[in-house]
Amino acid sequence: MSDTIRLRGGGSLQGCLRVPGDKSISHRALIFHALADGNATIEGLLESEDVRSTAACLKALGVQYEGGRIEGRNGQLHAPADVLDCGNSGTTIRLLMGLLAGQPITAKLTGDASLRSRPMQRVTDPLSRMGVEFIGDSLRPPIQMKGGGTRNIRYRSSVASAQVKTALMLAAVQSEGTLEFEEPSASRDHTERMFRAMGVEFVDEIAEDGTHRIVLAGPQRLHAQCIDVPGDVSSAAFFLVGASILPGSDLTIRNVGVNPTRSGVVQALKRMGANIEEVGLREVSGEPVADLRVQKAALTSTVIEGAEIPLLVDELPVLAVAAAHAEGTTIVRNAGELRVKESDRIEATANIIRSMGADIEVRADGFSVHGRPRANYRNFEISAEGDHRIAMASCIAALATSGVTTVHGAESIRTSFPEFLPSLEALRG
Ligand code: S3P
Repeated sequence: MSDTIRLRGGGSLQGCLRVPGDKSISHRALIFHALADGNATIEGLLESEDVRSTAACLKALGVQYEGGRIEGRNGQLHAPADVLDCGNSGTTIRLLMGLLAGQPITAKLTGDASLRSRPMQRVTDPLSRMGVEFIGDSLRPPIQMKGGGTRNIRYRSSVASAQVKTALMLAAVQSEGTLEFEEPSASRDHTERMFRAMGVEFVDEIAEDGTHRIVLAGPQRLHAQCIDVPGDVSSAAFFLVGASILPGSDLTIRNVGVNPTRSGVVQALKRMGANIEEVGLREVSGEPVADLRVQKAALTSTVIEGAEIPLLVDELPVLAVAAAHAEGTTIVRNAGELRVKESDRIEATANIIRSMGADIEVRADGFSVHGRPRANYRNFEISAEGDHRIAMASCIAALATSGVTTVHGAESIRTSFPEFLPSLEALRG
């Protein structure tokens, strides 16, 4: 069913909020503990459709999970009776392929229309070189595979992708062989942090040219650890941008994960002149966490490219909205990965920016937004193309217009942030 949001522009964002648990860490906490020795309690797990897809697939593999408590299967999963439905979630399907690579069972994985159009070769290629059998076409879901008996692999990924890295580390930790993995620059390191906390040993180094290298010799056991999931910086990003562009705003977002490999949006916004203060920096379950206070500021343009892209890849649509309110031209390069996310996020972002009456030029691997801080942007009507981050970025763009904006396809927000709209409305001054 398609939901439509109608939002009146104007006003400010004021007060305090907590964003829900980090999506990347929530998927990992469930998947790694499915394999673990022992049981664990996971606090603050994101309750959204994407994470529910992961939990449902794990239940189909014999994992007991109820009310935040998960029982590890000591390395042995059940063959699923049915097809594993990963819904809209690329992280679910790619990480599950890594998990299943170590299991001598046959499984078929699929998802919704968006997921069925997304590339899987980046994971299926290296896994088949490790010895996983893929039955039929393995370019896009549905994917049928039989794991077990995996061997050594030396693999350089052409993209810096935490999903690829994590899938291979999951395969390697169950393997008799050694994984030597490289990616062009560091991707988010939640897997490395949680693996270490669960007792897995591996080499993890960054070369002078920025290449990130992991060497992991299997097999190794994962030991269950109770996890406290921090708030999701990708969800916080919508409020960081909203409060930065709306006059009179002053907002505190509590308990946000500020892992440097993940919170590039905070650095990019600060470079643009945003007034963001990190308060009470602390470590929770091996992840840095802080409260973020953000106030309206005069923004200027910036360039976002190269090794910075993986650190903020999911935040680029809402950063484009900030750029439309910044003085000068903001340039985003080397972000071709945006074309293979839940939607083609280069085109979908351009659609938001043009719909609000701002200028954007699109290229194969990015875009340039010509910002106008004093512009009177107009209300608009848009379809989010089934993409949660496009729906929420559209809502933030709408706040800084006069009139009522209509966002179709807003049901997609349930994949990552079901409470987004009530949280936003509660802060409007
Ligand atoms: C994720 C990694 C990123 C990101 C996605 C979540 C993860 O994808 O876009 O939303 O949890 O590992 P890539 O690994 O494809 O860059």
